[in-house]
Amino acid sequence: MEMQKVQNLMVTGGCGFIGSNFIHYILDKTDFGGRIINVDKLTYAGNPENLIEIEKMYPGRYIFERADICDFDVIRELFLRYEVDAICHFAAESHVDRSIKKPGAFIYTNIIGTYNLLETARAHSEQFVLFHHISTDEVYGSLGKRGLFKETTPYRPNSPYSASKASSDHLVRAYYKTFGLPVTISNCSNNYGPYQFPEKLIPLITLNAMEGKELPIYGDGKNVRDWLYVEDHCEAIWTIMNSGKRGQTYNIGGNMEMENIVIVQMICDILDEICFPDKGGPRRNLITFVKDRPGHDKRYAIDFTKLHKQLNWSPMESFETGLRKTIRWYINNKKWVERVNSGEYQSWIKEQYGG
Ligand code: NAD
Ligand code: TYD
Repeated sequence: MEMQKVQNLMVTGGCGFIGSNFIHYILDKTDFGGRIINVDKLTYAGNPENLIEIEKMYPGRYIFERADICDFDVIRELFLRYEVDAICHFAAESHVDRSIKKPGAFIYTNIIGTYNLLETARAHSEQFVLFHHISTDEVYGSLGKRGLFKETTPYRPNSPYSASKASSDHLVRAYYKTFGLPVTISNCSNNYGPYQFPEKLIPLITLNAMEGKELPIYGDGKNVRDWLYVEDHCEAIWTIMNSGKRGQTYNIGGNMEMENIVIVQMICDILDEICFPDKGGPRRNLITFVKDRPGHDKRYAIDFTKLHKQLNWSPMESFETGLRKTIRWYINNKKWVERVNSGEYQSWIKEQYGG
């Protein structure tokens, strides 16, 4: 249980979707006794409002620093000031569609940013316990009808996003092999749950369906993703950080392969059950097939036997219950949704943090 020794855990990208869920999870649900230093640039995807309760509940144990992981001097200064002894690295540009329109930021943040963090950790490695790198199953490319991604599957990334994540994974591995930096890597399937920015499939469809807007489905809607509830992902990460073997990669998945169209239909039906629309009939009428995403990977599916057998982790949430919880969260957090959708959260960030 090496993480129990960690005093100062730097979490990068902690204001994003998975990072903020992870900080909630660590502080509320584990025996971690140290401090968390959340380093986030606050791009469009970062929202410190996700952690407002945490700030109030854990003064001194939760610290937020607005910073860009691409800025080497700032990262080094923070690392020294807080005597960081472990890093859990979430910060990334994470949306495939954006990487198709404008790949530049993906190259800087995902590759150069990761390199900066690795270099900083390497330069001060005496007391350094662990660099845990969060990655994606998308680095493995696309599957046909059968088969699963294993840790040994060759990398074949197809989008600028997945190519930039693949590059960062290789750098992390190289820092272990070449410099002996204590690292672990996890490659996870698609997450869903609270605080996800509404550009990704599940929140986008949920919010559009709530508002009676069109529900865009790329191509024929038969692309398959393997879905995992975000808290299950957080638990898997924490398990790997505590008990994973240094230098190893672990796949994380939900055993929950779903076609996009089926998910969209489920969201429509759950919302109809909660509140049937006044006009226009069932929400499935809002489904609109649109032009396919270029290079759209057909199918992702994860084999997480290694994590299950070696570290005894399995997902707890079923897709049906996880999806219902998620939809409820978006219904119950109307203010969060309004501020994100209207862009008001950005003015709030400007007021609080400048820039
Ligand atoms: P997100 O887009 O919601 O959050 C990313 C966070 O990183 C934001 O808070 C943003 O402000 C911050 N950030 C971006 N650039 C930065 C920079 N240069 N310096 C500092 N902070 C910066 O992403 P997410 O969905 O929470 O994903 C987190 C990690 O998990 C990413 O590494 C992603 O590749 C990986 N991942 C995501 C999924 C998924 O389904 N969302 C699945 C597998 C792996
Ligand atoms: P997304 O949530 O963007 O995650 P990723 O591309 O990382 O898997 O998309 C999930 C799937 O849903 C993917 O096959 C693309 C599809 N999709 C749509 O059909 N319509 C949409 O509006 C979005 C955002 C995604």
